[in-house]
Amino acid sequence: MFAFAPDPNQPKPELYADLVTAARALIQDEPDGVANMANLAALIWQFLPQLNWAGFYRTVDGNLVLGPFQGKTACIRIAAGQGVCGTALASGETQLVPDVHAFPGHIACDADSRSELVVPVWRDGRVIAVIDLDSPEPARFDAEDAAGIEALAAAIAPAI
Ligand code: SME
Repeated sequence: MFAFAPDPNQPKPELYADLVTAARALIQDEPDGVANMANLAALIWQFLPQLNWAGFYRTVDGNLVLGPFQGKTACIRIAAGQGVCGTALASGETQLVPDVHAFPGHIACDADSRSELVVPVWRDGRVIAVIDLDSPEPARFDAEDAAGIEALAAAIAPAI
């Protein structure tokens, strides 16, 4: 259906610009949020190297519930303020965690995870979901990854 050919060796700003362009193409004209999140999780998984989990948690009644993802089975419900994802929901701020073992309350869904990036998805003044990326590599994510996923979150917010 779509043939994306990401080059993981290109500079991160260009990689994320390509990712956002591909995401816009995927969600264009499709109103179903679950279908869009499923394809977006697969797209992130395809574009970004060194991930062991990539996907969505959705805000339901003020807490997080697992959404479409790629990777191993994961915890289903996360309370606001708990773990990295719940902290992103409660604070409304991106969580860049170079060492998950040093993050108080980190929830270990996959014991292989060493670093994590969680970005809130804002719509109409509230956090409707978070995008969660995990890596088996320590300090896999930096400020360019955070900026790239924040751009992705802004682009896809109307469509999930
Ligand atoms: N590590 C996350 C939980 C979700 S899994 O990584 C998929 C956290 O601490 O919130």
